[in-house]
Amino acid sequence: MNKENNRGQWASNIGFLMAAVGSAVGLGNIWGFPYKMGASGGFAFLIVYLVLVIFVGFATMLGELALGRKTGLGVIGTYKVLSQKFAWVGWLGFLSGFFILSFYSVLGGYTLRYALGFLMELFSEDAGFGGLGSGAFFGSFIINGGQNILFHGIFMALTVLIVMGGISSGIEKFTKVAMPALLVMLVIVIIRSVTLEGASTGLAFMFAPNFSAFQELGFMKVLKTAAGQMFFSLSLGMGCMITYGSYLSKNEDLEKNAMIIPIADTIFALMAGCAVMPAVGAFMYQGVEGISFGAGPGLLFVTLHQVFSVGMGGFIGNLFGFMFYFLVFIAAVTSSISLLEVCTAYFIDRKVQKGEEPNRKKLSTIVGFLIFIIGIPVCLDGLGSGVAGGATIDIPAVVFGMDEVRMAFDCWLDFYDMISEGVFMPLGAILMSIMIGWVLKTGVIKEEIESSGIKMRAYAFWDICFKYLVPIGILFVLIGQIDDFFG
Ligand code: PHE
Repeated sequence: MNKENNRGQWASNIGFLMAAVGSAVGLGNIWGFPYKMGASGGFAFLIVYLVLVIFVGFATMLGELALGRKTGLGVIGTYKVLSQKFAWVGWLGFLSGFFILSFYSVLGGYTLRYALGFLMELFSEDAGFGGLGSGAFFGSFIINGGQNILFHGIFMALTVLIVMGGISSGIEKFTKVAMPALLVMLVIVIIRSVTLEGASTGLAFMFAPNFSAFQELGFMKVLKTAAGQMFFSLSLGMGCMITYGSYLSKNEDLEKNAMIIPIADTIFALMAGCAVMPAVGAFMYQGVEGISFGAGPGLLFVTLHQVFSVGMGGFIGNLFGFMFYFLVFIAAVTSSISLLEVCTAYFIDRKVQKGEEPNRKKLSTIVGFLIFIIGIPVCLDGLGSGVAGGATIDIPAVVFGMDEVRMAFDCWLDFYDMISEGVFMPLGAILMSIMIGWVLKTGVIKEEIESSGIKMRAYAFWDICFKYLVPIGILFVLIGQIDDFFG
């Protein structure tokens, strides 16, 4: 740990980049991006997404990194120090982290279950998935609350274990190994995927210019989906990059880092698309049942399971199945640690400010445990979903007395996702942008960038982004959200 302050610091800029890209690249890229692209019109979605990254993503990233480094505090501390009026915004970020991680970890548990499943099938047939087909297995898994809780617990425990190690010797050390490994595994899966017979159907779906989705779904709907996806995928709007930025040395080039992270994340999302869509297209083309581009959330756990077990099949299918789900699992861990860090940092900052020595091990364990508990209702979602043959046992809703809320959202996962990705994150980003552009003025970012002795290169662009483009862009998203909710 860094001697000058007991919060910790990244050992190198490349280590920071691995951690930040690791945070950004996760289920959002490998699952969310391909399936949202699949359901929201392929190429049209891609174009909207890229425009959003350029005019909203880059600036929000720069703003978060700069504010975090300036204050040297987590998300709550940062807003408190910078503006009295905006002090409460930090709590939105903290709560987003808390809720996102509680369902993220459940899904991370799924990826672990599937990786283990394919691994076991490699050694003995039917050992991993009990001889069930992809749809039947998924159905049996999501109603198995006990197993869901077990894997959620394992995933959360691994996350805590890494965060406990601290910034440079926990998070940085892990991501420096995990990210290159992730890249290699992804490339191998892509090569297999694009060389399958009929793979071009999938590539065409992604890259052939086609804007029919704007008429079919409406431009606003595509915009809203792409924007929500962008914030989530870039880990923006909830202070994750504020927190990671706070551990960054004053010597590093913020403008450059703020460009590298979104570009790397977008490349990973496109690569994930190239791993998933060509395989889906190939087996659709070959007539394997139960496979389509627009399968929605089922894409990762039902369609792709089918791709590996029936499409590829045999030893090779199990091998690639294992490799793919293990890759998704690693990507999920490098993100979950950043979510836990957002929440843990608040308690660490409080100790440091009181002049006490923070006990990172204890604090991260307590926070991780609380998040584990909050995630349990998500593990039991399957029980009330009708998948269990209309089962009426609804433990989570009874415990929390929030049956109406749960019913309105179908399941806890959607509810947690809606308040975090759907509301808190865009709200957090719009408020930060207004605070920078109109209250503190973009000069505050310039000052922080130039404190490294590096001249700010694109002041005018960032200024327009903070003042107009980011707030207006997000306003559309929020209006779309409200419209959806009441419409
Ligand atoms: N960006 C991560 C993903 O794509 C999720 C995440 C969101 C991580 C917010 C941290 C903060 O999966």
